[in-house]
Amino acid sequence: MLINAKENTEKVIYISRHGQSEMNVKDIIGGNGYLSPSGVEYGEKLGDFIANHIDQEKTRFVTSSMNRTRQTAKLAGLDPDQINDLDEIDAGDFDGLSYGEVKCRYPSEYEARKADKLNYRYPNGESYVDLLKRTRRAIQNVDFESCDNFLIIHQAVARCLIGILLGLSDEKVPQMEVPLHTVIKIQGSEITYHKLL
Ligand code: F6P
Repeated sequence: MLINAKENTEKVIYISRHGQSEMNVKDIIGGNGYLSPSGVEYGEKLGDFIANHIDQEKTRFVTSSMNRTRQTAKLAGLDPDQINDLDEIDAGDFDGLSYGEVKCRYPSEYEARKADKLNYRYPNGESYVDLLKRTRRAIQNVDFESCDNFLIIHQAVARCLIGILLGLSDEKVPQMEVPLHTVIKIQGSEITYHKLL
């Protein structure tokens, strides 16, 4: 044993996307539907992971207000708080369309987003710049100092949160890989990925 090894006493932030949704299966942007069978399996596995690895007394569990995060938490046996500002990026007029439909019906919008994903704002919706602002506001309601936190959220909002917590440049945020069915653990500047399914 290393005598000088110091235990990392910083509070832990766990981040998970919801289980795979019906919209993920159809490659649909946004929507407020429920989980696919594989997403349901993840919710159950997440419950096992939490039971075995997390001190629930010392951890605050939080979801967005959307059906897919709340269903994931319920399957995991949790009774979380809800923060509406952690809802997924608002795709405005394109909510409910597939990426393929947007490319086909609105090619110039599709190309504009591809060219500048950070600044592109969905018609009547949000950009990543907007979402970064909303995520910063959301985490003012999260106590990172005196307890661990477990957030069940969405792809784009998870990118923003990780970017903010790790101090990444805004440009890196929209491109970040945040895999489904994986618990991401952040402690200080250390990030680790635990794939459950
Ligand atoms: O997983 C799908 C999703 O959460 C959509 O609802 C959302 O619009 C998208 O991911 C965000 O990712 P991207 O910005 O890469 O389209």
